Amino acid sequence: MLMPSNLQKLLLGVSLSCLASSHAVTNSLDSNYKIDVHSHVVPSIWKEELISAGYPVKNGTLYTDGFPVPDWTLDSHIGTMNSLGVNYTTISVSAPGVFFLKEAQKAKSLARSINLLLHSYTQDYPTRLGALCLLPLPFVDEAIEELKFCLDTLGFVGIGLFTNANGTYLGDSTLDPIFSALETRNASVFVHPAAPGCTSVALGHPIPMTEYPFDTVRAIENLLLTGRRAQYPNIKMIFAHGGGAIPFLATRIAGMASLPSLGGLSVPESLAQLAGYYFDTAASTSAIQLAALKSFVGADQIVTGSDYPYVPLSQVKPALSAIEGNGDFTTAEMDRINNQNALAIFPRIIDALKLK
Ligand SMILES: *[C@@H]1O[C@H](CO)[C@@H](O)[C@H](O)[C@H]1NC(C)=O
Ligand SMILES: *[C@@H]1O[C@H](CO)[C@@H](O)[C@H](O)[C@H]1NC(C)=O
Ligand SMILES: *[C@@H]1O[C@H](CO)[C@@H](O)[C@H](O)[C@H]1NC(C)=O
Ligand SMILES: *[C@@H]1O[C@H](CO)[C@@H](O)[C@H](O)[C@H]1NC(C)=O
Repeated sequence: MLMPSNLQKLLLGVSLSCLASSHAVTNSLDSNYKIDVHSHVVPSIWKEELISAGYPVKNGTLYTDGFPVPDWTLDSHIGTMNSLGVNYTTISVSAPGVFFLKEAQKAKSLARSINLLLHSYTQDYPTRLGALCLLPLPFVDEAIEELKFCLDTLGFVGIGLFTNANGTYLGDSTLDPIFSALETRNASVFVHPAAPGCTSVALGHPIPMTEYPFDTVRAIENLLLTGRRAQYPNIKMIFAHGGGAIPFLATRIAGMASLPSLGGLSVPESLAQLAGYYFDTAASTSAIQLAALKSFVGADQIVTGSDYPYVPLSQVKPALSAIEGNGDFTTAEMDRINNQNALAIFPRIIDALKLK
């Protein structure tokens, strides 16, 4: 590690085993080669199912969680990557995934159709796009089957998960078979936020505005307090949007969890777990956010994320170009944020780009 972050200084001696291999990658990529780990596809079969399930359409626009679902085509996706200077992106489906469907068979069948579409997009652009598998959670048996199909048969670069699937949060014991399957495969995971189990807390405002970041904190906290992160320490996980509010709240969570009446966990160990993830830059590129993130984990654990098309090109473009200056990152740090960290998380991208 070049410049230890404040937290790493605090934790000297506590091993972050889940990130131990983050510098194993060597390759010929230019430091400006950009890998965006957070971008979404919006296939029409998904929109149609959301509409049939009762999600509102206002003035011709579909809304999920009180937020407009953008128009999307594969061509516009590639065109946007080109205008952003993004070389490669991992594509996933945003919330609510397929967990709005009540029947396991329907959820599984829609997830399968979407995964086949994701696969076809990556076949069309093998050096530009990598797919993150959509799992039909909270239906665990069906999700395991889909996980195997995506990783073992279709060769996806990783798995997409949500902070919760219809109220089942990461860390829930029912998800143990999923975590165990991820751990045995060294699979990497991109975690996207979702609406919290109880949406009335949003007071009628758009849920993504604050409830998505808070749900990210909730999932990370639950992984700590249930002991599930300690049980599955090797799964490489990216949390979106700079970890929501976790850089700011981690010390509070670790402090409370250390009280004998609330669990008596060791503060350094809790902090190491809370910071033992990768975090993407989507909607997290202000100087304030990047200072917090840099101090919390350092450039070794920050990856580029755009959240296109939910965040439109007009906003993504200045956001991505602001990272270097607002974060006061060196060229070597930008190299990691642009591509090296993503390659360490998703070794299958190295294969797709024929870098070794
Ligand atoms: C409704 O859609 C039309 C066409 O896209 C747009 O011009 C108009 O501003 C929209 N109205 C509202 C209230 O969003
Ligand atoms: C990456 O994208 C940039 C900007 O579009 C381009 O100049 C460069 O050639 C690309 N690199 C590779 C290896 O494709
Ligand atoms: C989602 O949770 C609600 C409330 O617990 C339940 O009524 C509904 O059936 C669940 N839906 C699915 C898909 O499990
Ligand atoms: C998982 O990663 C570890 C450490 O890098 C390695 O020893 C092991 O062989 C890998 N297992 C699989 C199934 O790839």
